[in-house]
Parts: sequence; structure tokens; C-alpha cells
Amino acid sequence: MVGAWHVFRILACFLLLMRPLWSFSVTAPGKPVCRKEELSLLLAFKSSFFNQTNCLSGGSPLKMASWVAEEGNCCQWGGITCDMEDGHVIGIDLSSSCLAGIIDSKASIFDLVNLQELNLARNNFDQSEIPPAIGRLTGLTTLDLSGSGFSGVVLPEVMSTLSNLTTLDLSGNQAMNISGLGELLRSLNKIEELYLSKVMLSDRKVPTILANMTSLRSLDLSNSRLSGEFPDSIFALPRLEFLDVSLNNELMGSLTGFHRGSQIKSLRLSMMNLKGGLPPSLGNLSHLTEIDLSSCGLWGEIPSSIGNLTNLKYLDLSSNNFQGPIPPSLGDLTNLTMLDLYSNRLIGEIPSSLGSLILLKRLYLSSNKLAGGIPASLMQLSKLDVLDLSNNLLTGSIPSQISNLTLLAFLWLSSNELSGPIPHSIYGIPSLTLLFLKSNSLTGEARLDLLLELKGISRIDFSSNAISSVVFPKSNASITQIGMLSLDSCNLTEVPQFLENQNSLDWLSFSNNNISGHVPQWLMQKPLQHLDLSLNNIQGTLPIPSTSINYYLMSNNQLYGEVPSSICELKGILLLDLADNEFTGALPPCLCNFSFFLFALSLSGNNFVGKIPDFNNGINFITVLDLSSNSFEGPLPKSLLNCSVLKYVNLGKNKIVDTFPSWLGSLPSLKVLMLHSNGFYGEMKAPRNDSWFPSLQVITLSDNNMAGILPSDYFAHLPAMKYFSPDDDKYPNSFVQMVSMTIINKGIEREFGTTLGSVTLLDLSSNNFNGTIPDSIGDNLLKLHTLNLSDNYLTGQIPLSLANLKNLEVLDLSRNRLSGVIPGVLGQITSLSIFNVSYNNLSGYIPGGNQFGTFENSSYIGNPELCGTPLTKKCGNVPKPPSVTEDGQGDTSQQLGIVWITALVGLAGGLMIGVALEHAYGANFLSWLAAKWHKYQRRQ
Ligand SMILES: *[C@@H]1O[C@H](CO)[C@@H](O)[C@H](O)[C@H]1NC(C)=O
Ligand SMILES: *[C@@H]1O[C@H](CO)[C@@H](O)[C@H](O)[C@H]1NC(C)=O
Ligand SMILES: *[C@@H]1O[C@H](CO)[C@@H](O)[C@H](O)[C@H]1NC(C)=O
Ligand SMILES: *[C@@H]1O[C@H](CO)[C@@H](O)[C@H](O)[C@H]1NC(C)=O
Ligand SMILES: *[C@@H]1O[C@H](CO)[C@@H](O)[C@H](O)[C@H]1NC(C)=O
Ligand SMILES: *[C@@H]1O[C@H](CO)[C@@H](O)[C@H](O)[C@H]1NC(C)=O
Repeated sequence: MVGAWHVFRILACFLLLMRPLWSFSVTAPGKPVCRKEELSLLLAFKSSFFNQTNCLSGGSPLKMASWVAEEGNCCQWGGITCDMEDGHVIGIDLSSSCLAGIIDSKASIFDLVNLQELNLARNNFDQSEIPPAIGRLTGLTTLDLSGSGFSGVVLPEVMSTLSNLTTLDLSGNQAMNISGLGELLRSLNKIEELYLSKVMLSDRKVPTILANMTSLRSLDLSNSRLSGEFPDSIFALPRLEFLDVSLNNELMGSLTGFHRGSQIKSLRLSMMNLKGGLPPSLGNLSHLTEIDLSSCGLWGEIPSSIGNLTNLKYLDLSSNNFQGPIPPSLGDLTNLTMLDLYSNRLIGEIPSSLGSLILLKRLYLSSNKLAGGIPASLMQLSKLDVLDLSNNLLTGSIPSQISNLTLLAFLWLSSNELSGPIPHSIYGIPSLTLLFLKSNSLTGEARLDLLLELKGISRIDFSSNAISSVVFPKSNASITQIGMLSLDSCNLTEVPQFLENQNSLDWLSFSNNNISGHVPQWLMQKPLQHLDLSLNNIQGTLPIPSTSINYYLMSNNQLYGEVPSSICELKGILLLDLADNEFTGALPPCLCNFSFFLFALSLSGNNFVGKIPDFNNGINFITVLDLSSNSFEGPLPKSLLNCSVLKYVNLGKNKIVDTFPSWLGSLPSLKVLMLHSNGFYGEMKAPRNDSWFPSLQVITLSDNNMAGILPSDYFAHLPAMKYFSPDDDKYPNSFVQMVSMTIINKGIEREFGTTLGSVTLLDLSSNNFNGTIPDSIGDNLLKLHTLNLSDNYLTGQIPLSLANLKNLEVLDLSRNRLSGVIPGVLGQITSLSIFNVSYNNLSGYIPGGNQFGTFENSSYIGNPELCGTPLTKKCGNVPKPPSVTEDGQGDTSQQLGIVWITALVGLAGGLMIGVALEHAYGANFLSWLAAKWHKYQRRQ
């Protein structure tokens, strides 16, 4: 035994000793030895660019650590490949290797003329231009310089000698601008993979020659600010497998040219501007594994041939205008892991065939018009992680088998018509993180106690159902720390006590309950971002939350006293709503001045007195300002002009005494200006220039002391009342915007019983205006919904031009001194539902027919000379007016047609204010603010 062991040890030692020799001798013929001169070129490169302290995130110094002179065979170094036969360095892969510094043609790497593959991706070359010396590497087949901080204009000459290139990746060099890509590609005719994501092309066009590059397999031009037309023949390239032209919202195209035999596996066109719909020929792309057609403006039905794409794993058709039902054939796509149909106009029931998609992890069907129940078959999707059915018309109850979805983390069922109790089983989904059931008709108890036993639960919304009571946890022992709790309209009588021991809360909403008494002090010490206690019976003085607050909503309570100046310590506030309380006194002077981020301020419906405080003269983002229904006095502060993005101002029902603030006309975004029921006086002088009040669509000046003639020159301009444009407020895309819209709508509703939507309104009633109604109203303000000039001293005739206002719903000219006949053409305004010319000096026949048939007596009384139905006064021998001829109508619509064209042209320039606040919590928010400010200044 001992002998055998000894022999073994000797043998082992021998083998160990021999190993280097043995390995050398065995591999020598295959393992190349590097050339001295190339070794020194590489070392020179290292010493110029390698700096371990400059590693970008994800970078690693490992590869280059082996680049040392002592290790004499550079073919063994990290990232180096040598030619087997002659030992020349033919490949360098230094991606993510902590290279930094400006690289130019002197860099030694360009003397390695045998290189075939060069990868310098994800380093930091500090805005270098691509050195012309790269053109010496004529043997290159692969060149990857992506994400390495290259910049400058790349001319075709720089790389035109690289005719053997099959792969070129320059993506992510955002300051790079490629000039003449088409010309370059003529030289690179072997190209198979071309990645230019985030790189600018100087002409911003997709070169048509791409459609001729039959060897192309991958093409990435995403996020490159392309415009013009995308050549659809690119879809037909015989070898194309990967195509990404997403995030180019000015790039137009249509989905045609999908041929049988296509090799396309991945099609990403998100945010392209596509015409038309999805052709049935989509079903020809049998190799597809991934489609992203989100936000492309597509419409029509989703073709059922989509069910032929059985290799699909990822299907995103969200944010388009797809109509009709969800094709049941989607259930054939059994390899799908992600299906997103969010925000379309899909109708009908959710097909039960979707229950066959057993690999599905994420299912988004929200924001459509889907009806019927939640199909039981969905409860078979045992891999689901996200289920979003919110914002549809779904009825019936939540299936109790939902607990079958044991991996479900996010469940959105809000804003449907679901009824019945919340199934107990829902509290048994072990991985649940988020449960949103808001705005349904769910009944019974909400068992928050059970839900809080789930370890991962974090965000909960039971708001606005028909819940009888919420069962709160009894002890704090084993409950989870949550971030968000929303229990609006849940019959609460107090702020839930268990929250006192919750330390991760950021979002609380208990609006529209019966909470009375004072707000508990501990609540105000939580580092909350959002606190909504509006519509309760809370008493006391204004409680001041902790400085973390972004959204503070306390409207419709019984708070009283003065607003303390300590409110101005809330430096991060975006939205402050104190409307409809019993606050008194003057505002603290700092109130309009304290938060850089303040976006919406509503103090309406209180008893505030004194002057409106001055606004910050630095950058200021206030967009919604509602001080209506108080007793504010004095003139308007001129510092309102510092609020350069103001969109909505409601100062109605105060005691402001001032002339008409025409100076507000320079605010580029001001949409709504409500000044009714104050002491505004004097004449409205002509606007300062033609682009005065460029965005104004609602103005109320009623019940003031304005005098003089109606300001015809204003009406001739006001472009937002003139041109039709898609209404940005209809689809608020951020929370702040949504809440602000609620404030705005509340204000408008209070005054006019209508939601703002796209309302266009001009109310100059109950003043002392005299003179005639200018033609410029009917000739220009074509979007008007409401025109109220009642209760003034207007004279002359009702202008025929008012018949141009085809959207008019309310026309009130009552209580003036108008004379002449009622123009029959007004009957063509089919949308007119309120028409009032009572108490004037009108005479003659009330025109019959058309819309006039719908108005009653009260529309006409108080005009002694007016006759005919619905008045009792008969007309006798008063001559009947000629009825409106077809010709007359033709003229009007032709005239409108021209205006329509102008309107469409006008669309292009629409700038949306407040769009990106959706990122309010992210870094993007700050850059958005900066960009917005920048843009605004450039426009000045
Ligand atoms: C590496 O970079 C750091 C920081 O930029 C710099 O301070 C240092 O001098 C550099 N080292 C070399 C060897 O260049
Ligand atoms: C380009 O590739 C071809 C075929 O692979 C080869 O013969 C030729 O030498 C290469 N050109 C250069 C400049 O390396
Ligand atoms: C593409 O090829 C077609 C025919 O093969 C040719 O007529 C056309 O000029 C080529 N287009 C470009 C941009 O080179
Ligand atoms: C889809 O598949 C069916 C049956 O396999 C076939 O008849 C039909 O032509 C295919 N449609 C398309 C567009 O490929
Ligand atoms: C699903 O994908 C796998 C490979 O990922 C493939 O083998 C299978 O054929 C696909 N299933 C269907 C129904 O196409
Ligand atoms: C629940 O899951 C089990 C096992 O995955 C399955 O057999 C059953 O059909 C599912 N129940 C429903 C209602 O889908």
C-alpha cells in the first residue's frame, strides 16, 4: 500500500513539474506568439488611455490588468485575438475597459493594420471625433464604438475604405452626427449589422440605399430624430432579422411589404408615425418573436392573422387607436410572455382564449372599452406577474380563483364597473405588491388587516367603491410596512390609527370620508409626499405637514384661521389645495413665492382678504392659480408675469379693482382667465400685438364695471379660440396634471356646470359695454362653445357672421339694446342648445325651422316687436324673412373649409405645457424643468 502511494506521489509531482512544458509543447502549434512591435503598440495604447480611476459604471479593469510587458505574449492578454498562423493581432475587444481620454489618429492602435475586429464600446473617449486613421484598418469586419462618447461630424470618407465591414456599431454616441450615410453605405456593401441608435444623421433621413442592402440582418436606427418617409421595402429585405426604428416620432411610414419567407424576428417601431393599420400580411412574418408597435398612431382592427405568429414572445400594440374586438386568435400565441394592448379603443369581451397563454408574465389590457366579465380562463395564467385590466367597462365580480395567480405582484382593476364583494382569496396572493381596485362598485368589507399580512404588499387603493367598512389591523405586531394607502369614499370616521406605526408611507389619500376633528399630530410628522384629506369635516387651523410633501390637498373641510407663514417651509410642494374651507385673514406674503416647484395653488372659496402676494421673480412653474371666491382686494400684482407657464388663472368673485390686465397677454400658455364678479373697470384697449393671449380659450369678465365698445381687435386674434387643435388637457399624462385638471374643472363647473375639456368660452356679460357686436367674433373665434354678451348696452343688429360659430352651444345676447331681425342663418348652428335674445329691441318674425324649433318662449320675451312662435304675438302683415338657401349654406361651409386648412397647418407648432411632470419623482423631472425653461427663454 505504502509503495503504491509513494509511486503515485512521485508521478503527481512529475506531472505537476512538467505541466508548463507539457502544455507548451502540446499547444505550441495552435497558440500564436505575438509580435514584438505589436506588443509595444498595445502597451503604448494602454499607457495613453487606461485609467482605472475612470471606469464608467459597468466597466472593469480586468482585461487590461494582464497587459504587462513581462507577460511577453500579447496574444494571451485579455481581449486580444491573434492570427493562428502569423501571430498578428487581428482582434481587440476592450469594451467596458475603463479607457478614457481624447483619441486621435496618433493612437498606436491604428497601426495594427491586420485588425479584423475592433471593439472599444462603452469607454469614455471624451467627445473625440472618430480619427481618420481608422481608415487604415481596411481589414476590419467588425467595428464597435458604441456608447464611448464619440462626437462630431462623421464624413463618409472616414470609413469608406472599410469595405469588408459586416458589423458597424456607433450607437449611443449622442453628440455624433453622420453625414452622408447613404454614400458611406455604398462603400460598405457587405454590411450585415448596422447599429446607429441615438446617433444623428445630418439629413435626418433613412437612406433609401438600405433597401438594396440584401445582406443586412440587423438595423438599429432607434432614437435618432429621423424624419421623412421610412422606405417600406426595407421590411422586405430577405435576410433582415432585427429592425429597430423606434422613438423617431417624425418618421413616417406604413406597414406594407410583409412577405412570406421573411426572416424578421424582432420588429420595433414604437413611436414611429405610421399611417393606416396592421395588414393581415403581418401573419406572414412567421419568425417573429418580438413586436413593439406602441404609440404609432395605428388604427383599424387587429387582424386575426396575428395568431399565426406562434413564435411571438413579446407583443406590444399599446397606445394606438385599434378598434374592434381583441382577436381570439391571440390565444394561439402560446409562447407569449408579454402582451400589451393598453390605451386603444378595443371593445367587446376579453376573449377567454387568452387563458391559453400559459407562459404569460405581463398582461396589460387597460384603458380600452372592454366589457363583460373577467374571464375565468385568465385564472390559469399561473406565471402572471402583472395583470392590468384597469380603465375599461368590465362588469361582474372579481373571480375568487384569482388566488391561483400565485406569482402575481401587480393587480390593477381600477376604474371599471366591477361589483360584488372583494373576494377573500385576493388576500392570499402571496407575492402581491400592489392592489388597485379604485373606482368600481365593489361592496362589503375591505380586509386591510388580512392584506397587510402579505409580506411584499406596498401600494393599496380601495378608493371610491361602495365599500361598507375597512377592517384595520388590530395589532401592529406582524403587519407589513406599506408605502401607499388610498381609501377615498370608504366611510372612514378618523385617520386610521395603525398608520402611526407605519414608517415607509409616502402616499395617503382619505378624501371624501367623514373624518372629523383635528388631524392627528403624528400624521404631520410622517415624511409623506402626498396627503389628500379633502372632502371631510376636519376642523382646526391648517396643519402643516413635513417638508417632504409634494401634494397637499385639504379642500372642502372646516379649517379656519389664517394660513401660517410656516407653510412656506414646504419647499418641495407641487400642489396645494386649500379650497372651500373657512380660512380668513391675509395670505402670508411668502405664499406665492416659496416653492420653486409649485405647480397648482387653489385657495378658492375661503374668506381671504388683502392683496394677492407677489410672485417669485426667478424661475417659477405655477400653472394653475385659483384664488376665486374670496375677498382679495387691490390691483393684480404685475409679478404674475413672472409665472411664465401659467395656464389657468381664476380670480373670479373677489374685490379686485383694476383695469383689464391686458399685460397678461404676453403669457404664452395662458388658456383660462377668469376675472368675473370683481371691480374691473374701464375700456378693453386693443391688444399690444397680434400674438397677444396666444393660448387663451376661456375668458370670463362678467359682472364687472367694464365700459366702452367691445374690443374687436382682440377677437380678431386669440388663436386658441380660432384654430382647432388636439386638446392636451383631455389626456392628462401626469398625476399633477390630473389633479390640476380636477381643480380647474371644479372651478369651471362651479361657474358654468361643464367640464373644461376643450371648452372655449367668452363671457363679457353684466358690464357696461356699448356699441355693436363686432363681426370679428363670428369671423374668427370659430371654436367658441359659449358666447355670453348679455346684460350690457349693446346696440345694432345681430351679426350674420355669428352663424360661422359651428360649435356654439350657448349664445346669450339677452338684456341689451339690439335691434333688427333675428338672422335665420343662426338656425344652422346645430349644436346650439341655449339661445337667448330676450329683453332687446328685436323685431319681426322669429325664424322657424332648423335649430330654432327647439327654443322656448323665454328665449325671446321682452322684445315688443318680435312675433311668431313660440311667442304668443302673431305677426299679422310683418313680411316673412326669406328662408336660408342651399347656396347660402354652401358659401359658409366653403369659407369654413379654408379656415380648417389654416387650422391644420397651425397644428404643427403646438407646445404642450406641463407634459413631462409625470417624471415628478425622477431625475428627468429636473432636466425637464431645465429644458422647459430653456425653451421658454428661446421663445422670448
Ligand atoms: C486618472 O484619472 C484621474 C481622475 O481623472 C486623474 O486624477 C489621474 O491623474 C489619472 N491617472 C493617470 C495615470 O492618468
Ligand atoms: C476583404 O475580404 C476578402 C474576402 O474575405 C479578403 O480576400 C480581402 O483580403 C479583405 N480585404 C482586406 C483589405 O483585408
Ligand atoms: C437599388 O437597386 C435598384 C435595382 O437593383 C436600383 O435601380 C436602385 O438605383 C438602387 N437604389 C439605390 C439607392 O442605390
Ligand atoms: C395563417 O394560418 C392559416 C392556417 O395555418 C393559413 O390558412 C393562413 O393563410 C395564414 N395567414 C397568414 C396571413 O399567414
Ligand atoms: C415556442 O418557443 C420555442 C423555443 O423558444 C419553440 O421551440 C416552440 O416551437 C415555440 N412554440 C410554438 C407554439 O411555436
Ligand atoms: C388553478 O390552478 C390549477 C393548477 O395550476 C389549475 O388546475 C386550475 O384549473 C386553476 N383554476 C382555475 C379556475 O383556473
